[in-house]
Amino acid sequence: MEDLTKKVAELGKRRGFFFQSSEAYGGISGFQTFGPEGAELKRNIEDSWRNTFSRGLGHREIEAPTIMHEPVFEASGHLDGFDDMIIECPECGNSNRADHLVEDNTPISEAEGYSAEQIEGLITEHELVCPSCGSSLNGVDVEDFNLMFETSIGPGNSTPGYLRPETVQGIFVEFPRLKQYARNQLPFGITQIGKAYRNEISPRKGLVRVREFTQAELDLFIDPKEDEPSLEEVEDIKLKLYPVENQNSDGINYIEASVREAAEEGLVNKWISYYLGIAKQWYIEIGVDMDRFRFRQHQPDERAHYASDCWDAEALIDGDWIEIAGFSYRGCYDLTKHGKHSGEEREFSVFKEYDDPETVEETKINIDMSILGPEFGDKASEIAEKLRRKVELGPDIVNEGPIFVHMDEEEYAIDSKTIEVTTEKVTKTGEEIVPHVVEPSFGVDRTVYTVLAHSFTQDSIDGEERKILSLSSEVAPTEVAVFPLMNKEGLGEKAREIANNLRNHGFSVKYDDTGNIGKRYRRQDEVGTPICVTVDYETFEDDPATVTLRDRDSTEQERVHITDLEEVIRSRL
Ligand code: GLY
Repeated sequence: MEDLTKKVAELGKRRGFFFQSSEAYGGISGFQTFGPEGAELKRNIEDSWRNTFSRGLGHREIEAPTIMHEPVFEASGHLDGFDDMIIECPECGNSNRADHLVEDNTPISEAEGYSAEQIEGLITEHELVCPSCGSSLNGVDVEDFNLMFETSIGPGNSTPGYLRPETVQGIFVEFPRLKQYARNQLPFGITQIGKAYRNEISPRKGLVRVREFTQAELDLFIDPKEDEPSLEEVEDIKLKLYPVENQNSDGINYIEASVREAAEEGLVNKWISYYLGIAKQWYIEIGVDMDRFRFRQHQPDERAHYASDCWDAEALIDGDWIEIAGFSYRGCYDLTKHGKHSGEEREFSVFKEYDDPETVEETKINIDMSILGPEFGDKASEIAEKLRRKVELGPDIVNEGPIFVHMDEEEYAIDSKTIEVTTEKVTKTGEEIVPHVVEPSFGVDRTVYTVLAHSFTQDSIDGEERKILSLSSEVAPTEVAVFPLMNKEGLGEKAREIANNLRNHGFSVKYDDTGNIGKRYRRQDEVGTPICVTVDYETFEDDPATVTLRDRDSTEQERVHITDLEEVIRSRL
């Protein structure tokens, strides 16, 4: 279908799914408002995610603040490394994301992992110009631009804070309490659905690249030596995989593999493979079209600073593959960093008890500071620390004459008599380990957009064009619409009574008596309501009373006894 993006954007505005926010003030790019239908659709998708990835897998959800102070992001690496490449036009001053400029105007489809120098070279080679004013960008510097929104906490600006660029930092910083809650037992999973913020250089395409968005993230903390995913739950699910090697060959060659094959043949990390299986089932349930869907592995230079492997779920819309989720193996990166930066390393590890206590020989290193102190003065403790590390690496070094330590471009010879190395037997009941993290992370706004785009179709009824959202009942904002054929002679009252009755049975119901019945059906087709119920004159003629029940996709109608209505609707949904 041609230009689905435009059609979905048009429907989004006209029917209250999503639209540019603050339009009365000219709008500001990168911020979208979900209207009544869109907010309901988004909530349903979030609830469905929660049921699958949180409750469904036995995990617990938290809600952390969206603003966090600077040390958190110093530790996480976002302050230093969470940058995109920016190029500013010297003529009109407009800024653009430099790698996207290359992707949009050259045969290169993925430029995110390129260096600034490579991008500058490509801009010059392809004689790229500013998209706003057409001036040449040859020789213009490409620079790093940090994507975090900065703010200051409290009066004055002495406490810098940032709007979180990913919800998960709120999980990592609370790890000391969360591990207590999990009674130190690995594996355990924590989820969070909430807002995150990125000051995108060039927001684009409605819900696809926005500056404020919702993430649904699951962080599973595992013991990498012992814990195994329950592959048997999803082992036969087939995955359409696009690994790095295949991206580097000509044309698009996918690999079809089951979850178990992908994990056991080493195509995909076993934990990630497990989550790809769970995710694929979920995407089918909420209405993502599997013919326009794949899992693509990140190129090494494309990975986020914390990930040792990452696969994206991608959806095809109008010829563009859009990342809708990322599945990262974050290893011990985040907990180690927060442990070091907070000075609370033990709080960011877990004490793992052995099944049976072990007796081991432990090496003790004693350094005689009464010798080092007078000899090296204020450098003594730093030298002692370096000495200790050197001896830990190879205790035999103490038998080989003086030990040389390098510091501040000087070499110090330390008499080995300063150091005493002894061994003693100790009984250990367990050890501190830093758990590894596996993280499936979903972009909720992009998922909403994909569900809208993939469920959008058009057909023709009696020569009249009809737009339909074939939303699954799992996510449709309205499950049932109830209409009186006309709002007179008791039809309206009966239809309202039926609508209220269905609401009391837990359905999301819309009552509508405005305009002709054909228009009311079209309106509900456009917002994806699976079933319409109409009260007409036959309702009162039949005994027991009946209504018509109309199916959105086939438009077929059947008469149903009102007494059976709840049961019939439930079975249809
Ligand atoms: N937590 C993964 C991401 O924000 O991309």
